[in-house]
Amino acid sequence: MIEDSRSILGIPDDYLVGIVPASDTGAFEMAMWSLLGARGVDLLAWESFGQGWVTDVVKQLKLEDVRQLDAPYGALPDLAGVDFDRDVVFTWNGTTSGVRVPDGDWIAADRAGLTLCDATSAAFAMDLPWDKLDVVTWSWQKVLGGEAQHGMLVLSPRAVERLESYTPPWPMPKIFRLTKGGKVNTSIFEGSTINTPSMLCVEDHLDALDWSRDIGGLDALIARSDANFAVIEAWVSASDWAAFLADDPATRSTTSVCLKIVDPWFEALADDEQGAVAKAVASLLDGEGVAYDIGAYRDAPPGLRIWAGATVEADDLSALMPWLDWAYATVKAERGAAAA
Ligand SMILES: Cc1ncc(COP(=O)(O)O)c(C=O)c1O
Repeated sequence: MIEDSRSILGIPDDYLVGIVPASDTGAFEMAMWSLLGARGVDLLAWESFGQGWVTDVVKQLKLEDVRQLDAPYGALPDLAGVDFDRDVVFTWNGTTSGVRVPDGDWIAADRAGLTLCDATSAAFAMDLPWDKLDVVTWSWQKVLGGEAQHGMLVLSPRAVERLESYTPPWPMPKIFRLTKGGKVNTSIFEGSTINTPSMLCVEDHLDALDWSRDIGGLDALIARSDANFAVIEAWVSASDWAAFLADDPATRSTTSVCLKIVDPWFEALADDEQGAVAKAVASLLDGEGVAYDIGAYRDAPPGLRIWAGATVEADDLSALMPWLDWAYATVKAERGAAAA
């Protein structure tokens, strides 16, 4: 799994790739707990998962030299304001707002700090500039749609250097421990997991990696997501009631596509009524067996969220689009008529 992930994703030979406990959350938490505190930290957050990492650094690790660069749902923080002399924590693709960083150009090549990137809904669907990233994490179930279990953790040589030169002042539970006797525990990165993995989940992920290679590797995976996104984009551009939550086209996620409702009738509703309408649209589609769980994330503005990763067929998305119009028109007619 480590070798296949490395070759499909084009991870440099001098980076470590490991299988660690507790999915993407486990991988990202152990990176933060093991590496942060040596210098100041810039925390970027523009949706719920990024905000979760901010909470951890500020309220659990209680780091003091912290700058928060926030943005509301639909936008990105000011990337030009990031200080790469500091460690930088960010999410490549904000899964709950459908906003991603456009590329890695904003990341300094000659940085003194480390970049810690939660890439769970980006890896296997978007280009990741490995030379700009010191920590990268993802889960098995996200873009490749496998079973959840362990997470993947990638460390650059500079991240390893930090591990071997800095010991955090807080206790380190066994499942977070990346070092042994002051040195990086290399066995984790050779497949000797800290705790027992599920071999069913491992086999399932190996299957997904085989499929990825068979269809043409990373370029083919990215092309599939891009084509899926293009289906939704074409529909949105002709829609008179739906729009992307992501304002800037360069930041629109091609995996977790988040839509808001811009119909004047909807916009005139009170906040709780808007939430109820968006939920009714999603549940109508669910009831028809057309689409499951496509309501916006609970903390996000009301709307729809459609998964468009590589495992989804573009034809299925094409088939979905008219159903969205039907569902919205149905809910609007029912609620509009009730109000009248
Ligand atoms: C950006 C991001 N970070 C973290 C997570 C949590 O991942 P996991 O459930 O694999 O721990 C998710 C899950 O959707 C996510 O999208």
